[in-house]
Amino acid sequence: MRTTAVDRPGAPPRTTMDMGALFSQREADRYTMHSRHLNEQMVRVLKTIGYDVNFCRGQGPYLYDRQGARYLDLLSGFGVFALGRNHPTIQAALRSVLDSELPNLVQMDVSTLAGILAERLLVLAPYLDKVCFTNSGAEAVEAAIKFARAATGRPGIVSCEHAFHGLSYGALSITDDAIFRGRFEPLLPDCVRIPFNDLGALEKALHERNIAAFVVEPIQGKGVNLPAADYLKGAAELCRRHGTLFVVDEIQTGLGRTGRFLAVEHWNVEPDMLLIAKALSGGHVPVGAVLTRKHVFDKVFDRMERAVVHGSTFGKNDLAMAAGIATLEVLTSEGLVDKAARTGERLLQAFAAMAERYELVHDVRGKGLMIGIEFGHPQSFKLKASWNLLETASKGLFCQLITIPLFKEHKILTQVAGHASHTVKLLPSLTISDADCDWIINSFDAVIADSHRVPGPIWSLGKSLMAQSMRPLPK
Ligand SMILES: Cc1ncc(COP(=O)(O)O)c(C=O)c1O
Repeated sequence: MRTTAVDRPGAPPRTTMDMGALFSQREADRYTMHSRHLNEQMVRVLKTIGYDVNFCRGQGPYLYDRQGARYLDLLSGFGVFALGRNHPTIQAALRSVLDSELPNLVQMDVSTLAGILAERLLVLAPYLDKVCFTNSGAEAVEAAIKFARAATGRPGIVSCEHAFHGLSYGALSITDDAIFRGRFEPLLPDCVRIPFNDLGALEKALHERNIAAFVVEPIQGKGVNLPAADYLKGAAELCRRHGTLFVVDEIQTGLGRTGRFLAVEHWNVEPDMLLIAKALSGGHVPVGAVLTRKHVFDKVFDRMERAVVHGSTFGKNDLAMAAGIATLEVLTSEGLVDKAARTGERLLQAFAAMAERYELVHDVRGKGLMIGIEFGHPQSFKLKASWNLLETASKGLFCQLITIPLFKEHKILTQVAGHASHTVKLLPSLTISDADCDWIINSFDAVIADSHRVPGPIWSLGKSLMAQSMRPLPK
């Protein structure tokens, strides 16, 4: 008898299709499986910093480990869980797709759910006319680069220093981080980087009229860098004057994150293209979108033989569209955009008070529930020596001395806002409660207070990380 690949000795055993049961059977092996078959370095990182706690459940803004301990997640899957994990409305919408036997991905038809989601998104950005759906944020960036070149007939793309737009080739070409770019070069030609918040540099870059698009995050995710009051308006105006498309990457800031549906609403600007992704997924089904002006779209899809000139097999799939439709519904029905504004204000005030009290806290900034706490060089003699030692060993390592005790002692999962960054970033779900805010404020206060004690457990942790030559975690 012939054996097939699945019958062969060593092939995985036949298995249950109950994924919850399968997870329970094998979750204890996750680190071993990953070391063996996936990214071994990620497992090393988790074990080194003690994050290998075997999360077993996620609900709302919380994660639970195998012992049932509850963690408050301020990372929210890099921003996808704006509604929290496993929101019942998203789950119900997705189940209804599976139960309805919809004619998904016919390809030689058009998707009804995509039509509905596009219609609803465009109501929220009424100055734009067309939508192109993608499977990720980076794919939305790729589409924007292609559309801008097609619409203008120009090659150049301008982006900002410290920008992050994704890791596929086009997106990486306009991302500013040597660690991400190194070993993958050469990247796309004709990409120019200028300082963020510098209209003079933008004007100079646009001067020769060979730039298709200026792509910018309204608040930079790496570092939580805010634009000056007149920056985005000024940039839009410069782009208009030079025939360059003004493209705003709201993949992280969009869908309520900053206390407005779109962050650009804080500064009253209307981009030519808007990129969204992350939260639109409801945390369940990857999805992204480019919202654009009609004249741009028409330059790409200008005749029948070009009807499929850009797209992707899984783009507009029913599960992704349902996740997007349900996400917009929950944002509205639960008033999450206003809630993010209110909760964020409370947290910002509490952190600003800490900045007054603690010399290591240099700045607190953000909007809504995208908040950065920047640490910096201390004044007092006893702290200076320890800080300098740590910084010399590895720039930005100090932030790990905040995030690791937050995780281990206070059950708060948070992140450093970029490579070699001194900024700890909060990106919680928009649903966090007043009690969660107390949890955040009290925990940060306790850990930051500890970091001002030399000698003390925090600086001992620093020594041990230096010994293991830990580098700060990316993203
Ligand atoms: C501003 C911004 N743009 C683009 C991306 C890339 O999105 P994705 O990871 O879905 O490809 C990210 C992801 O972190 C982002 O924050």
